[in-house]
Amino acid sequence: TWRLGDFADAAVEQIRKQVGDKRVICGLSGGVDSSVVAALLYKAIGSQLSCILVDNGMLRKNEQKIVIEEFSNHFKTDLHVVDAEDQFLSDLAGVEEPQEKRRRIGYAFIECFKSEATKIEDAHFLAQGTLYPDVIESGADKDGPAATIKLHHNVGGLPEELGFELIEPLRDLFKDEVRRLGLELGLPEQLVWRHPFPGPGLAVRCLGEVTREKLVVLREADAIVVEEIENAGLYRETSQAFAVLLPVQSVGVMGDARTYDNAVAVRCVNTDDFMTADWSHLPYDLLARISTRIINEVKGVNRVCYDISSKPPATIEWE
Ligand code: XMP
Repeated sequence: TWRLGDFADAAVEQIRKQVGDKRVICGLSGGVDSSVVAALLYKAIGSQLSCILVDNGMLRKNEQKIVIEEFSNHFKTDLHVVDAEDQFLSDLAGVEEPQEKRRRIGYAFIECFKSEATKIEDAHFLAQGTLYPDVIESGADKDGPAATIKLHHNVGGLPEELGFELIEPLRDLFKDEVRRLGLELGLPEQLVWRHPFPGPGLAVRCLGEVTREKLVVLREADAIVVEEIENAGLYRETSQAFAVLLPVQSVGVMGDARTYDNAVAVRCVNTDDFMTADWSHLPYDLLARISTRIINEVKGVNRVCYDISSKPPATIEWE
């Protein structure tokens, strides 16, 4: 039978042969695929690996910390963290239209990544976490939305532009195999089972114009959603769970005072392939805890709604 341990050994062998004594750059996003690629490359070539994390300011709570902990303390890779929050926020200032937000984020990401990558001397390869379903998808549906999504996520176009050779060690694997490989390589469960997160990050969950202040509110609310779902033991049974900050104020009451504050939507879905999805039928007491905690703990929020729309016709994200 086919074993992942054998796959890892064979992949390590293959990477060493392909790379020789050259340097490889790997972009990290905090997600499963890029983490597994980095861990595999580290096992194969150790100090010849350089990792880049572009912190666009749209990451979830503690995300930068988790990546640093893993790829600079545990796996001692040459990790470059690009703090680009200011740049992304200024590129997004005044922009409300969802597609335009994505376009600007994609563009800023490529600029930041490129500028850091060109500082790394003698880099020859660029590693990407392309999986088998991506390979099929991009062939069958080159100009479709799926291709566009991956284009951004996987730094499409960059390798050629920078003169890098591409290395894609996961391209024969499905997602569940990638997770098992991650565990085999010593990545923590918390990282390996992480829900997917869109490349444009919290920007597409902060509806309308993105500002630093709104991101603070959203990040805190989002962390509560995830934490409560974890505490209820439902994180792995759900496919994605997050908060969305709505561009709406509503009236509330706190003590004897009237409030006029933000509304947050909670989105939690179950899906096999992310093409269709059902909203998760979470227990009422869990929803109650999430709502109470967000309203009590997150300043500026006085109302929480639960999104009960399926995909289609709704999408998983709100923008
Ligand atoms: P939708 O909202 O289209 O999302 O139902 C389907 C899945 O794709 C993720 N998603 C993205 N992933 N870059 C990404 O890497 C993106 O621009 C992007 N937009 C949506 C979404 O989180 C869900 O898992």
